[in-house]
Amino acid sequence: MSGAFNEVYQYSLKDPQGFWGEAAEALSWYRKWDTVFSGDSATTYRWFAGAECNTCYNAVDRHVEAGRGEQPAIIYDSPITGVIRTITYRELQDDVARFAGVLRGLGIDKGDRVILYMPMVPQTAVAMLACARIGAVHSVVFGGFAANELATRLTDSTPKAIVTASCGIEPGRIIPYMPMVNEALRLSPHKVDSVVVLQREQQTAELTPGRDHDWDLAMSTASPVDCVPVKATDPLYILYTSGTTGSPKGVVRDNGGHMVALHWSMKNVYGMTPGEVYWAASDVGWVVGHSYIVYAPLLYGCTTVLFEGKPVGTPDAGTFWRVISQHKVAAMFTAPTAFRAIKREDPEGKFLKQYDMSNFRTLFLAGERTDPDTLHWAQDHVKTPVIDHWWQTETGWPMAANCVGIELLPVKDGSPTRPVPGYEIHVLDLAGNEVPRGEMGAICVKLPMPPSSLPTLWNAEERFLDAYMREYPGYYETGDAGYMDEDDYLYIMSRTDDIINVAGHRLSTGAMEEVMADHPDVAECAVIGVEDQLKGQLPLGFLVLNAGVSRDEGEIVSEVVRMMRERIGAVAAFRTAAVVERLPKTRSGKILRGTMGNIADGKEYRMPATIDDPAILDEITEALKGVGYPRG
Ligand code: COA
Ligand code: AMP
Repeated sequence: MSGAFNEVYQYSLKDPQGFWGEAAEALSWYRKWDTVFSGDSATTYRWFAGAECNTCYNAVDRHVEAGRGEQPAIIYDSPITGVIRTITYRELQDDVARFAGVLRGLGIDKGDRVILYMPMVPQTAVAMLACARIGAVHSVVFGGFAANELATRLTDSTPKAIVTASCGIEPGRIIPYMPMVNEALRLSPHKVDSVVVLQREQQTAELTPGRDHDWDLAMSTASPVDCVPVKATDPLYILYTSGTTGSPKGVVRDNGGHMVALHWSMKNVYGMTPGEVYWAASDVGWVVGHSYIVYAPLLYGCTTVLFEGKPVGTPDAGTFWRVISQHKVAAMFTAPTAFRAIKREDPEGKFLKQYDMSNFRTLFLAGERTDPDTLHWAQDHVKTPVIDHWWQTETGWPMAANCVGIELLPVKDGSPTRPVPGYEIHVLDLAGNEVPRGEMGAICVKLPMPPSSLPTLWNAEERFLDAYMREYPGYYETGDAGYMDEDDYLYIMSRTDDIINVAGHRLSTGAMEEVMADHPDVAECAVIGVEDQLKGQLPLGFLVLNAGVSRDEGEIVSEVVRMMRERIGAVAAFRTAAVVERLPKTRSGKILRGTMGNIADGKEYRMPATIDDPAILDEITEALKGVGYPRG
């Protein structure tokens, strides 16, 4: 070890203003900041206050002006439709400027919100950048969410327009989007003036005259629009993420801090050089997609791969290697679950041997903990460093990583390595004191958070303070629990709230319980996350039926499963529920979800001292056996 990492890390904590001020010099500003950092409390501090910039300018136009116009900006690789298309920075600039003109023509201006409900096509990135170009605030809604989730986001963000496509494509089926957009608009008290629809040839949509506009037609008549200066502290986007209740949290991202942190991360965390190809195999609907499919690679002048497919089945478990080899990808980022899927289909890595991977340097995994089995399999087969790194929608970039661009530190199984420069991380006990190394506690970040971290939640400052700032004054509460070892390596072990992680997707069991509780025959319910070999976790429901209900229990469970799919979406992967007579609770009435989870996972558990009636746990064990838990 050269100690280079320690040096950079210490500098970032000792002189954050110097550190981030230097990083910001790499970008273009219409007006420089008054101070790099201003304010002193959780609610009021801001990065680069007084500065004016444009994220789209820095991600697109700047590169064209600097001579990168003919370099591919986006490689759209869609095994699901059989299309591969390259878009240069110059073409991207033309498309984005024109779509910004479409938005302007629809009356959208600085500060207005636009919902993007889109599949993995390049037009999604174009629409995001076009919003940024005119200072509009985009809110991308993941295509796997159902109408109800879309409606919640409509109501909260009150957009002027929705941009959507006629359909998304999943293996073996087409997902028409317009019925969901129409249903969401019916459910939400908020209405929009316009809907722009990208008609895909796989299935076109019927448009509503007066409200809906065909993407291609609108583009053919629109005039290009230039970038407008926005404040560094103005919102670039809102991205909703699961909280503990059915109403998701609208994470706000600013313009200036975001672009500085993301730009810095491309070299230092990911070890990239401008002009190289970077691939995040995620979805633009998630934060990984925002940051590392769209913004960071483009801000840094890399080529980004936008992949519409799955790790397996499109057409086989060799797809990832084909993409890496064909497009000369230097670094890839995906979720461990994708590797578990590949490993399950091709345990010996036979597909891998068919491809030239000589340009590939580093594999990054995040979204959930990389279990040692997956880590070793990836290391043995891919034969590059495999870097687990830890982050959240709230931060928009990693909080802990092995920063290969600074210094490759030794990889330790089960750890995303050390806090990234800018993050001072402490593991605290319930009283807010630091726990000894190796002991579990709440993982917290000393304030202020570095640039890019959320300044607030959309329209919900109090919720922001409650969720992140109040429990441990002076710290940001991540909601994750774990420990730090003697070498400052972090280990992220579980959540401290009701959030579960299904195939790298963050989902709220509270939201699922709200859906279940709406079933007319359900008196009480609980949802927990249980271990799953492929997806990491899966939701499992418990239902207590109303007295006197004599209907077939299997039918009721099927109805609940259907409701979950219709109200939250297929992505929740909710398939199983056990009907029980009662739920185990503490004497104060708190449902013992953790204990139920341990029983379902076949783990040893201690009888909770506060349990109301210990006999209930035998009933739960029997009910779980009835639905196949613990898994053999
Ligand atoms: N639009 C509509 N439906 C979608 C969707 C989308 N964008 N994305 C997923 N779904 C649906 C799927 O079709 C599936 O429906 P089904 O129940 O009818 O089969 C359901 O949601 C669950 O999807 P998924 O989580 O993709 O599971 P899967 O069983 O189809 O595939 C994996 C398993 C491991 C291959 C897949 O989860 C995967 O690729 N994971 C990577 C996760 C990732 O990139 N996470 C981002 C964080 S970095
Ligand atoms: P999201 O906001 O959807 O990115 O989900 C963030 C949450 O996913 C974190 O708070 C963690 O619980 C989990 N997570 C993300 N990356 C990792 C990782 N590398 N190791 C463990 N958990 C992770």
